[in-house]
Amino acid sequence: MSQRQRVFSGIQPSGQITLGNYLGALKQFVNLQDTADAFYCIVDLHAITVPQDPTLLRERILDLASLYIAVGLDPNKSTLFVQSDVSAHSELGWVLQCIVHMGELSRMTQFKEKAEGKDSVSVGLFTYPALMAADILLYQTNLVPVGEDQKQHLELTRDIGERFNTRFGSTFTLPEVLLLDQGARIMSLDDPTKKMSKSNSNPQSRIEMLDSPDDIRKKMSRAVTDSDREVRFDPKQKPAVSNLLAIYSLSANKSIQTLEKEYQGKGYGDFKKDLAEVLVNTLQPIQKRYAEIRNSGEIQDILKRGANRAKEVARPTLDLVKQQVGLGCTTHS
Ligand code: AMP
Ligand code: TRP
Repeated sequence: MSQRQRVFSGIQPSGQITLGNYLGALKQFVNLQDTADAFYCIVDLHAITVPQDPTLLRERILDLASLYIAVGLDPNKSTLFVQSDVSAHSELGWVLQCIVHMGELSRMTQFKEKAEGKDSVSVGLFTYPALMAADILLYQTNLVPVGEDQKQHLELTRDIGERFNTRFGSTFTLPEVLLLDQGARIMSLDDPTKKMSKSNSNPQSRIEMLDSPDDIRKKMSRAVTDSDREVRFDPKQKPAVSNLLAIYSLSANKSIQTLEKEYQGKGYGDFKKDLAEVLVNTLQPIQKRYAEIRNSGEIQDILKRGANRAKEVARPTLDLVKQQVGLGCTTHS
């Protein structure tokens, strides 16, 4: 048991989960649960770094938990829990805010993107990566499966962990990032230079996991393509079609080369129509399971059990951190 790799990852309950989240993160979560000791967190504390409606936030936490299970995460194999149910995240998050430097946080591209054009942003949005580092380091994590947009945060997590270990003595395992090749960055359907995101104001830019078959077909027919009619993978010259090929390949479990051959001499119309059907077939069973679970009332129990397991694993790390730093007087002798 103790030989198994510890895996940790998290998703914010801040909107409808997209196909990008699924192909870039959730699919890997499912694959890892058979071999690793996996912790999958719903990072609600991260979601409040930007304004959230309280009623909606609570609903979205339950939506996301139901989706975790609907895509195939098994609460008997993985630990599924909500970040704010385990207070050690906030506690370690504070300590790590006192380790990370302002300059390091200023360089984070996700912060720059999210802050761009806003009159004011919360301090929490700025210090967000320190909380993320706490999420990961708390569990002595070996591997973090994420999309490419999180790579920079992972590098910072390692830097923070390493700095802590050097300053206070060996405390944290330094985690590795686990990226999926093509799935690591699924781009928008309306603009292949931007990543597909649940927070994009244009719903046509993304496929959501709960989209109806008709919505999927409509969105696919409107998805932008490139000049000429060739279905060929070439991210530089043909970014839109390459993105659609990546989505097709990951969803149908066919290689890009096979797909290129299949669509040789055919136009974009056939290709996009077939892709829409592949997506409908991929998402329909997930949506069916989702509806059953979301309405069953068992989700709270699953999250409670998950939080209890997470607390047990997080506690020794937090105690050690406090001891190393010289905090408190009751947790250590
Ligand atoms: P977020 O939606 O920002 O909470 O992201 C949750 C997880 O999904 C992270 O691991 C992201 O890297 C991944 N992810 C989000 N959007 C995409 C995308 N367009 N392509 C691939 N992975 C993504
Ligand atoms: N920052 C991640 C995102 O926006 C979410 C996240 C928070 C996370 N804590 C994490 C991902 C820990 C992996 C591990 O997608």
